[in-house]
Formats: sequence, C-alpha cells, structure tokens
Amino acid sequence: MAVLLGLAGPAQAGPDGATIYADLCASCHAETRLGGTGPALIPESLGRLQGDRLQAVIAEGRAMTQMPAFRDTLRPEEIAAVADYLSAPLAAPPVWDAAAIGATREMTTDYHAAPAPVFTADPMNITLVVETGDSHISVLDGDSLAVLDRFETPFAVHGGPKFSPDGRYVFVMSRDGWVQKYDIWSLHEIGRVRAGLNSRNIAMSADGKWLAVANYLPATLTILSTEDLSVARVIPVADRQGRPSRVSAVYQAPRRKTFVLALKDVPEIWEIATTEDGGPYSEGLVHSNENGMEEAMGVERGLFARRRIAVSAPLDDFFFDPDYRNLIGANREGETGVVVNLDVGREIASLPLPGMPHLGSGISWMRDGRRVMAVPHLNEGRISVIDMQDWHVVKVIETSGPGFFLRSHDGAPQIWADVFTGPHKGEMHLIDKQTLEVVKVLKPEPGKTVAHTEFTRDGSRALVSVWEQEGAVIVYDSRTLQEITRLPMRKPSGKYNVWNKITFEDGTSH
Ligand code: HEC
Repeated sequence: MAVLLGLAGPAQAGPDGATIYADLCASCHAETRLGGTGPALIPESLGRLQGDRLQAVIAEGRAMTQMPAFRDTLRPEEIAAVADYLSAPLAAPPVWDAAAIGATREMTTDYHAAPAPVFTADPMNITLVVETGDSHISVLDGDSLAVLDRFETPFAVHGGPKFSPDGRYVFVMSRDGWVQKYDIWSLHEIGRVRAGLNSRNIAMSADGKWLAVANYLPATLTILSTEDLSVARVIPVADRQGRPSRVSAVYQAPRRKTFVLALKDVPEIWEIATTEDGGPYSEGLVHSNENGMEEAMGVERGLFARRRIAVSAPLDDFFFDPDYRNLIGANREGETGVVVNLDVGREIASLPLPGMPHLGSGISWMRDGRRVMAVPHLNEGRISVIDMQDWHVVKVIETSGPGFFLRSHDGAPQIWADVFTGPHKGEMHLIDKQTLEVVKVLKPEPGKTVAHTEFTRDGSRALVSVWEQEGAVIVYDSRTLQEITRLPMRKPSGKYNVWNKITFEDGTSH
C-alpha cells in the first residue's frame, strides 16, 4: 500500500485520494465513481454525507452490508484524502444517453406473469412499506396485516413508488437513477434499468404507458416504456437561452394528459404531452391561434411535445388543484407560494408561506363547501391552510416542531401531521379537518423519529413509521386513535396504499 501511494508523484504532499480510490474502492463503486455493486460516490448523491460523517462511514463501514470498514487499512489522513476526492465534482459531465441507459436494462429471467393474484388478499388494499434500513420493500396486506413478500430494491429508494392505473405493477426509483418494475400479482420483480445517474422522482402518464424520470445528473428527463422499461426518449433540459437545468421533480397531470416538470436552475415550468394529440405548443414568445399559422414558429406537437411556461423565478416542489388547472410552487427562498395557472401559462397569485413550505406533501379536502389545502413547513412548527378558490391563508396551525408529511383520507376525520426535527420529533398531531384544531398529539416512541402516515383503502386504519433502524409500522384505528399493533420493520419510511394512490384519494400527496 505504502509503495503504491508513493507513486502519486513528487508534487503530491499528502496521500492521494484518487489512487486510494482506484486501489480499494473502484472494484465496488466503479472507476467512474458512478456506482457498481456499491452506490455512486459523487457530491450529487452523497448530499448531506460530508466531512466527518463521510469519513466515519469509510472508517466504520456499514454493518450487514458489503461496505467494509477501512479503519485498520487506511490511516486517518488517507481516509480524509479519499473523502475529499469523493466530495469533488466529476471532472467531466458523464454521458448518459439512450444507448447508455438501454445497456443497463436487466429483465428478470425467471419471471412469469401470474394470470391472477397469487394471494387471496384484496389487491386494492395492498400497502407497500419502503424499508430504507436494508433496501427492501414489504408488501403488506392492509386487512390481515400479513407481509406477503419482502423484495430487495436498489440502494436508497427516492420519491414515491408509482402504481400502474390498474394497481398491478409498481415502479420504484432510487437515488442513483435505477428504476425497478415489480408485479404485485405475481410477487416478483420484472426488471430494472438505470434511467439517470442521480435522480429525484418518477411519474406515470395517465394512460399508464410512460414513466418519466426526473434527473439531476445529467440534466435530463428520461421517458421509459412501462411495458418493458425500454427508453422512449431522453429529453435534455435547458431554458430558451440554452442554460441547462436539473429537474427537481416530475408530476403526472391526469386531466391534462401531460407531465409537469419543476426545474431547479431556470425560471421555467415544462409540460410534456403524453399522448399523440399533444400540443401544439409554440416555442415563440408570441403565437397566433389562427389556423395554419403555427408552423412558422417552431411549434411542438404530438407525443412528448414540450411546452415552456415562463415564471419570474425558479419554482420547486409543486402542489396541484384536483383538476390540474392551477399549480402552487415554492420560491427558492422558501418564503412565498406562487400560483401558476397552467391553462393560460401565467402566474396569477402569490401568498406568504415563510419557513420552507413542503408543498410536495400538501393535501386538500372540502371544508364548508370550499376546497382547502394544508402544507407543512420544513423550518417551522406550523401548518398553513390555504383556500384554493381565492388563495388566501385560512389559518396557520401551530405544532410542536417542523413536520415533513401530512396525510388524511376521506374516511378519516383528522389530518395526521408529523414532527420530523427538533426536541419534539416523533410527535404526531391530529388536526380536525373542519375546526382546524389540534385534537390530540400521539407520542408513541418519545425521542425517536415517528413520521409519515398512510391509510388503508377505506381509511379505517392509519399506518405510521417508527423511522429507526430497529423500527416498526404502528397501526392505529383512525377513529378511536387506539394502537392496534406494531409490525417490526427496518427503518421504514414511506408507505403506499394501492387504492389510495391509483384513485388519487384526496388525503394523499402525489
Ligand atoms: C466490497 C465492495 C465495496 C468496497 C470495496 C467499498 N465499498 Fe463503499 N459501499 C459498498 C456498498 C454495498 C455500500 C452500500 C451500503 C449500504 O447499503 O448502506 C457502500 C457504501 C459506501 C458509502 C456510503 C454511501 C451512501 O450514500 O450512504 C461510502 C461513502 C462508501 N461506500 C465509500 C467507500 C470507499 C471510500 C471505499 C474505498 C476506500 C469503499 N466504499 C469500498 C461496497 C463497497
């Protein structure tokens, strides 16, 4: 080892991170740092794993995984050098085009599609539990609460899994851009493909044919065929001036038959048609609606036609009204919500939402004949309730700390709002949907993270995660608020009920 490190060259004072990486890490994480049997090790994916925390992972390894501890192999300054190397951006932007993506596609050879569900449980009341602790998903029967299967996912599942419109198939995406297709009826994986190198989330077209993958690296939207995970299109994302942008998130807008994209780096919102009769969308600044006049101005039409909507500043993290006429997005400072009317393609209102609103986990429901939405704040212990007709703030509900997820259900009288950070983390606030008062605070595991609620199909039970390595899913009766049982799980995070997701149940975020 010492001899090898000596080869780093006379100009190198300390140990050389690149050489250590090539010798000890590349076999699992790849020469390119883009991942192999181990995950990608680039700043885009390491995120908050920086400095001491990054060095600690290298020194200690990860128990129960293939990641070895290097405490006894590398001196502290060598660990620091390799950590610095991983924290530096890649020298050249990697190419990840349709050919490169297609080459990663692996279909499961022993998969046979079952003609009917291989279990007797109600297929519409299946709930998936993402267990990030050991990269698995549990397939839970929402009635008997039995785990029907537990399958391995790619490392670090990110964003919510998406179900096919009939609820049979589910698509799961990871931070490193892997998309996995799983057949719930057969309880079997069908295949996987790497649609991006660092990705944010996925959305499925209303007809179930296309799956869009929002990528940070490279700055693209990948569209896959849901049938066989083949690449339908890779769309480079850049504004009119050609400045590239990461894609923060992609959403399905069912009534519009489009995907809607939140762009991280440029002041545009994109809409992508998912049917052959999409568009026409004019690329010009002005356009004529006169028949036959569109051709002259760079018009996009047909499947995957793209429309640009200019906004005054980049908007992240969207919430939509039920008919997808309006979206509300958060500005980057996290102080204001901006309402954009998608029909006219213009900002129509803004409202004060200080403290980093998390619109992506907003929910809406009917109150006194009016539709209202609620959104938690990532930096403050409050929930804003907004009237969706005239966009005024109806009420700001105080909670004991900043929350991450809100959930409810038509069959449940309350909103379930977690506290994700701060001294009161783990407290679950139950808020009456009509009075907007906190009626109860559940504290099932003081000091531990208790977060994210999902309901069974009829809303009668609420499932809550104890978000810890030796964690659990706690099942509550959503009317009596009594605990029914606890199911042990490994760091459970999100839970996704087939029925609530495919019917766009009001109380769930999408
Ligand atoms: C035998 C294969 C293997 C080798 C060799 C290896 N790793 Fe890993 N590494 C993994 C696996 C697998 C994981 C994912 C562990 C998990 O599931 O949490 C991982 C995870 C990591 C993580 C955490 C990533 C994250 O996002 O949580 C870091 C950092 C890391 N490795 C750095 C290194 C470095 C630096 C080296 C060389 C000094 C190295 N690894 C060598 C397999 C390996």
